[in-house]
Amino acid sequence: METKAPQRLKPWLLPLLASLLVSCVLISLSFFFSSPSLRHTLALFSLYTPPSSNPPLFIEPNLRLPRVVPFTAVPRIAYLISGSAGDGSSIQRTLRALYHPGNRYAVHLDLESSPAERLELAAAIRGDPVYQRFGNVWVITRANLVTYRGPTMVANTLHAAAILLKEGGDWDWFINLSSSDYPLVTQDDLLFTLSSIPRHWNFIEHTSDMGWKETHRARPVIIDPGLYNLRKSEVFWVSQKRGVPTAFKLFTGSAWMMLTHQFVEFCLWGWDNLPRTVLMYYANFLSSPEGYFHTVICNADEFRNTTVNHDLHFISWDNPPKQHPHFLTLDDFQNMIDSNAPFARKFGRDDPVLDKIDKEILSRVPGGFVPGGWFDALKKNTTDHHYTVGKVANLKPGPGAERLKRLVLGLLLQDNFDQKHCI
Ligand SMILES: *[C@@H]1O[C@H](CO)[C@@H](O)[C@H](O)[C@H]1NC(C)=O
Ligand SMILES: *[C@@H]1O[C@H](CO)[C@@H](O)[C@H](O)[C@H]1NC(C)=O
Ligand SMILES: *[C@@H]1O[C@H](CO)[C@@H](O)[C@H](O)[C@H]1NC(C)=O
Repeated sequence: METKAPQRLKPWLLPLLASLLVSCVLISLSFFFSSPSLRHTLALFSLYTPPSSNPPLFIEPNLRLPRVVPFTAVPRIAYLISGSAGDGSSIQRTLRALYHPGNRYAVHLDLESSPAERLELAAAIRGDPVYQRFGNVWVITRANLVTYRGPTMVANTLHAAAILLKEGGDWDWFINLSSSDYPLVTQDDLLFTLSSIPRHWNFIEHTSDMGWKETHRARPVIIDPGLYNLRKSEVFWVSQKRGVPTAFKLFTGSAWMMLTHQFVEFCLWGWDNLPRTVLMYYANFLSSPEGYFHTVICNADEFRNTTVNHDLHFISWDNPPKQHPHFLTLDDFQNMIDSNAPFARKFGRDDPVLDKIDKEILSRVPGGFVPGGWFDALKKNTTDHHYTVGKVANLKPGPGAERLKRLVLGLLLQDNFDQKHCI
């Protein structure tokens, strides 16, 4: 028993020593921490970061991420070229005329075309040694059903933009074209001109003046069977009409545009609810491609001042405008050039005016590429038939660059340009 007595004393001794030690440490630490610079140094090492003096109340501004695209001297463009049954060869022709190794391309033949035609297009692109070499052309194999004038057109554009973001996301602008569009400048001309302007400008023709479209487009409610049917059929009208929205303002304009990377991300990621709400609204809107992006961009504070009111296209409408613009022919050639626009539509398949554009503007031989900086540097190894290329970024702009510069500078330097966004 005697041997156990001193042990009974110890249980209180140990906690006392421990608490003494802890308080000593605490006291010394309190001196330590009172020095701001030391506190700062310690904070660097600890996982705990002190709350900032003004904690954000709203989550959205935190989600607005800065631009992540690496800056290259020569901008990169992501193109969507789409078509329907029978457009396979015009898609290939337009792609050839637009090709540049620094760009990205998505091509899409819609579900109306036969599987054989889609396979043929995919095989032709896979089999091309130059497309292979640069790996920048993607064929959308899960074809979409696209109803002309219906929301499935916008869905298809968003689908392609999402593929282009995922596969080759480091581009600066997105341009949506169809197989009946054709360039009026070379890619060297276009890239050269764009390399001298800030990369936040969205070229989108728009107006808030709905005019006749208010009664004929905004009030009627349509249903696009392409959203739920496998076979293509026309949109149909619901007997009831709806009011003009009050939660956002409607804008309308051309279905052709050049959008920035940041704006496309804004539409696709949906960290702000606006693009999603507007998309659902436009699901029942006739000719939604003429309004969706316009309404989103003009109702988003962070983007409305980035708009340039032009669609970069030469389009010849009948007077008064019908649903389709008229087909361009040799008679329109001079007007196309004089417009300074980089693209024109709409062309009939293999119309002679395309041959004239190839010959006189693009210097392109049938089936060939448009000569330019990269093309001149392209060498074929005679033993293994692989291509080697010098600097892809070497541009050789021609007269097209001068024309385009006139157009772009005219737009950006016009009087009161700052006051003309989204009006
Ligand atoms: C995109 O391209 C197609 C042509 O394939 C066109 O009809 C459509 O209106 C364009 N615009 C948008 C916003 O989808
Ligand atoms: C857009 O520009 C106008 C006119 O210069 C200006 O008053 C407005 O504050 C700008 N908006 C944003 C969100 O920067
Ligand atoms: C051409 O290809 C062969 C076989 O791959 C290779 O040995 C040769 O170095 C290449 N020539 C050039 C100029 O790259």
